[in-house]
Amino acid sequence: MTDLDDHYPALSDLYDRARRRVPRFVWEYLDSATGGESAKHANTAALDAICLTPRILSPVEPDLTTTLMGRKWSLPVGIAPVGMSGLIWPGAEVELARAAARAGIPYCLSTVAAATPEEVGSATADHGWFQLYPPRDPGIRRDMLSRARNSGFKTLILTADVGTPSRRERQRRARLTNPMRLTPHIVAQAALCPAWSFATLRSGTPRLRTLEPYAHGGAGGTTGHIGYQLRVSPDRAYLEALRAEWDGPLVVKGVLHPDDAASLDGIADAVWVSNHGGRQFDAAPAAARALPAIRAALPDMPLIADGGVRSGTDVLRLIALGADMVMLGRAFHHGYAALGPAGIDHAIHILRTGMLADMGQLAIVTPPEVRARL
Ligand SMILES: Cc1cc2nc3c(=O)[nH]c(=O)nc-3n(C[C@H](O)[C@H](O)[C@H](O)COP(=O)(O)O)c2cc1C
Repeated sequence: MTDLDDHYPALSDLYDRARRRVPRFVWEYLDSATGGESAKHANTAALDAICLTPRILSPVEPDLTTTLMGRKWSLPVGIAPVGMSGLIWPGAEVELARAAARAGIPYCLSTVAAATPEEVGSATADHGWFQLYPPRDPGIRRDMLSRARNSGFKTLILTADVGTPSRRERQRRARLTNPMRLTPHIVAQAALCPAWSFATLRSGTPRLRTLEPYAHGGAGGTTGHIGYQLRVSPDRAYLEALRAEWDGPLVVKGVLHPDDAASLDGIADAVWVSNHGGRQFDAAPAAARALPAIRAALPDMPLIADGGVRSGTDVLRLIALGADMVMLGRAFHHGYAALGPAGIDHAIHILRTGMLADMGQLAIVTPPEVRARL
């Protein structure tokens, strides 16, 4: 990794290279949030504001091994679900799954991925989580659950913050549709990025493949459209039905209010504190802001958190506020679009080595000990 470390020492270096390599409409899809993007900026600002106080004269051998929901992971870090990863660079879902398995961390496949659970399952080598946008039709829901289970996904993530579609203005301006339509506007942008275009031509137009069996020709519109036709805003009864149908760990994603978190006690195995990368509601607080009250409401519940993480230091900051596992969405896609599979490995390496260096500064052996350095 020495060479990559010199050229791309930070995740921001992978961001810069990815941005140059993908067409503008792809970048707008990945990078954008909703509204004025204050929730997205709040994610990084809230992390930057957190200080952790170092200690001296106490050398340590840090150990990043993390147990979550009864399972060991090599780092308290994982890959968050991102719809249409394969649009960002072809093959993303399988390569992200493989990289996660190599590193011993979780990879979460989205319902609106460009690859199916059947295609990605074996690449996860038992490190896979499946994220569900809740289908309105219980028959479709049961079918999706059995497809995920039969493909080797043992942990289910119910994303609960997408009841209503958000406006995502940048994405609309970029005129990205699903399925992708080759308008002159799109072709002109793709022509400026030959490596992306050749790779995409070779692998075929990225589509919402998992949902296709249920679409009945209803595809069309902005990215995620079939998904919106199928999904429902889940209520308590829906969650209970899902709990009855899924016998593995069940996580609810998109929680920001401590009362909502408390209501999940006894039914969810973990709570995922997230504002969806700022893509759903521009006035939403950052996970970093929401976490302390949620941790106070649920002292023993495993908490997962994400949003705006750009370094191992940020991972430790979220753990300091109460998270047990920290997920990143966009950053791993920057790694893959920048450098292929080696870029995902490198992003994980940046996070791992950053955490180890910081834990030395903080004189802590395990990540949760960081809570004593706030
Ligand atoms: C392009 C894009 C697509 C996303 N698609 C999904 C999705 O399909 N399901 C979901 O639960 N979250 C989705 N998310 C949210 C991520 O899982 C995660 O919460 C967020 O990206 C974390 O913020 P970060 O990108 O700053 O790390 C998406 C995020 C992005 C950027």
